[in-house]
Amino acid sequence: MGNKKKLKLAAIIEGTGWNHTSWLHPDMPADASENIDFYVQQAKLAEDAKFESLFLIDVSHVGPGNIPHYLSMFEGVSIMSALAMKTERIGLSMTASSSYTDPYNVARQVLSLDKISRGRASLNAITSNPGGMVNFSRGHLSKADQYPMHREFLEIIRNLWDTYEDDAFVRDKENGIFLNQYKMHLTNYRGQYFSVEGPLNISRSVQGRPVLYTAGSSPTFVDMATTYTDGAFIGGFSLQEIKHTAMALRKKLDEKNRNPDNFVIATSQNPIVGRTDAEAYQKYMELVALNPYQRIAPPLFFGSAESVADEIQNWYEGGIMDMLMIKQDHPYGLRDFIELVVPILQERGIFHTEYEETTLRGNLELPKPAFRNF
Ligand SMILES: Cc1cc2nc3c(=O)[nH]c(=O)nc-3n(C[C@H](O)[C@H](O)[C@H](O)COP(=O)(O)O)c2cc1C
Repeated sequence: MGNKKKLKLAAIIEGTGWNHTSWLHPDMPADASENIDFYVQQAKLAEDAKFESLFLIDVSHVGPGNIPHYLSMFEGVSIMSALAMKTERIGLSMTASSSYTDPYNVARQVLSLDKISRGRASLNAITSNPGGMVNFSRGHLSKADQYPMHREFLEIIRNLWDTYEDDAFVRDKENGIFLNQYKMHLTNYRGQYFSVEGPLNISRSVQGRPVLYTAGSSPTFVDMATTYTDGAFIGGFSLQEIKHTAMALRKKLDEKNRNPDNFVIATSQNPIVGRTDAEAYQKYMELVALNPYQRIAPPLFFGSAESVADEIQNWYEGGIMDMLMIKQDHPYGLRDFIELVVPILQERGIFHTEYEETTLRGNLELPKPAFRNF
């Protein structure tokens, strides 16, 4: 395996699941998506298993036909701040949409989360559904505006996070010097969508900047991710689709002379795993039985722990993912994955057995970026 970085694991800990029916399961709290006890329990499970990160997907444009999880859910910064105080080592990654938010607010919130968690914060900045712009006084904008806005958003946010050089705050009581003002830098950005002068009012992160991801699938997304972010969240309904996007990202990183070791390709799956194939099938049938009219597709990682571990190893060694994000449809999806699959991945030397660093960036084996070195 040479010096290849270890596989990274994240837990998408959100509530009742990613379909219409999981909330009906007798062991799933029906209000799981806005139940703090449920979130704390899931976060601790993932941290005890040494997952590098918790991760939140986000939505703020919903209607009656949406899955239950979308209809009633926590806002990301709020829940992650609470979880920061209930955990010690695991990363805290939340999603915010550049179509719905202002970069100054988000930069401030995520850097505050970073301080609260002592260097464990991360932002997944996405473009989201253009229909949602009506909730943010942006109903006059359309899909065509989203990626140009996203570019401005990412440029501004990176800049704001580097308002202060690492040693800007002297806090010298004897001489009454709080700040070395020459180490405070403005952003002075005039874009088509966002204008931000700066400075931001919070010091630089111990991890340099919070870890930045974006999510999508188009060539524009690939270009944005490889220009601005530390990692990309990719999806697809089949291995081929996911692989296609992963390879497009790797090709672009190469073209831009970026070291692929310093970039995290993440994809999410909702494994259903058992000690045997039959046990996994039984868990799947529990979900199917909740509502036979709403078909739940069998997941790509499905079956005995050994076979799921084999599949994960293939994806990881094939360069399809650096980080696997576990979603759960079954109320014990995360627990079962941790109990049955994680020990196999550890035994094979693919996944670590202990946190090596104190910051998220450190645990993702990403270097700390130098000040304003974009
Ligand atoms: C893996 C993945 C995760 C995403 N996560 C979110 C999310 O949490 N919230 C959201 O509103 N949109 C999410 N999106 C939508 C994207 O931000 C984007 O709007 C969409 O993929 C269209 O852009 P594209 O044509 O570049 O793929 C996600 C998309 C992908 C592929």
